[in-house]
Amino acid sequence: MNKSQDLPRLIEVLLNTERIVVLTGAGISAESGIPTFRGEEGLWKKYRAEQLATPSAFSQNPHLVWEWYDWRRGIINSKTPNPGHHTLAKWGKRFPFFTVITQNIDGFHQKAGSSDVLELHGNIWKMRCTQKGTLMENNEVPLKLIPPICPKCGALLRPHVVWFGESLDFSILTKAFQLSSKSQVMFVIGTSAVVQPAASLPFSAADAGAKIVEINPEPTPLSSHADFSFRGRSGKILPMIDAELEKAEKHSEG
Ligand code: OAD
Repeated sequence: MNKSQDLPRLIEVLLNTERIVVLTGAGISAESGIPTFRGEEGLWKKYRAEQLATPSAFSQNPHLVWEWYDWRRGIINSKTPNPGHHTLAKWGKRFPFFTVITQNIDGFHQKAGSSDVLELHGNIWKMRCTQKGTLMENNEVPLKLIPPICPKCGALLRPHVVWFGESLDFSILTKAFQLSSKSQVMFVIGTSAVVQPAASLPFSAADAGAKIVEINPEPTPLSSHADFSFRGRSGKILPMIDAELEKAEKHSEG
């Protein structure tokens, strides 16, 4: 057996683990029907990031940018979390310290029941005032007004997401690095592991001694550094790991 897919050994590790951090990317929501960014059907194959997901695209054509986000909100709104998200929500209750750090903006981890979630790239259901920075939630699908306007001051609202060329929220990023380097096990699920700074989190966890478990149907730049590398869909692999974990727990109780 390929050592990196050694499920019994992973179960042994998990039975002795209290601190887990999970880094997720678009792949965990793929089985819910949300397009990823870089695959064959990925968003960046069909759309040009610089025309839709940059501050200059927004200042040149806020209407076009908001139409694209309105379309994505419509897709997300019509889908639901899958067994991958649900397994992580279940583990959030099982392990004493369990944080999901996500690059996704769909809100599916919270929808599935995860409570400790750090959103590195923002959330598509939040908007921010371009003048005063006021943050608000908005679940309207489709949007009644494009581009939307701040109800408090009348300025343009923007999606509360991180665009290319923008920095991530400093306090969220600091917390993500701290938690990663304190973790005993870090799962890296459904991310191509090429976008910084998120792609550095598993390396900082590994440097501090964490075991790295990758779940992805395709190899990534992280794969050769991972202690465990499961090639497959997270909606299948995560419930499979959970079932084995439950079996092992029952066995050790009995
Ligand atoms: P990508 O589209 O780059 O990568 C998705 C990954 O998910 C790929 O490695 C796929 O092999 C894998 N994948 C596909 N289906 C899967 C499944 N069922 N189970 C598990 N894995 C699967 O998405 P991200 O890595 O999330 O940033 O992209 C990172 C960032 O780049 C995004 O947050 C976004 C984008 O530009 C911003 O918008 C700031």
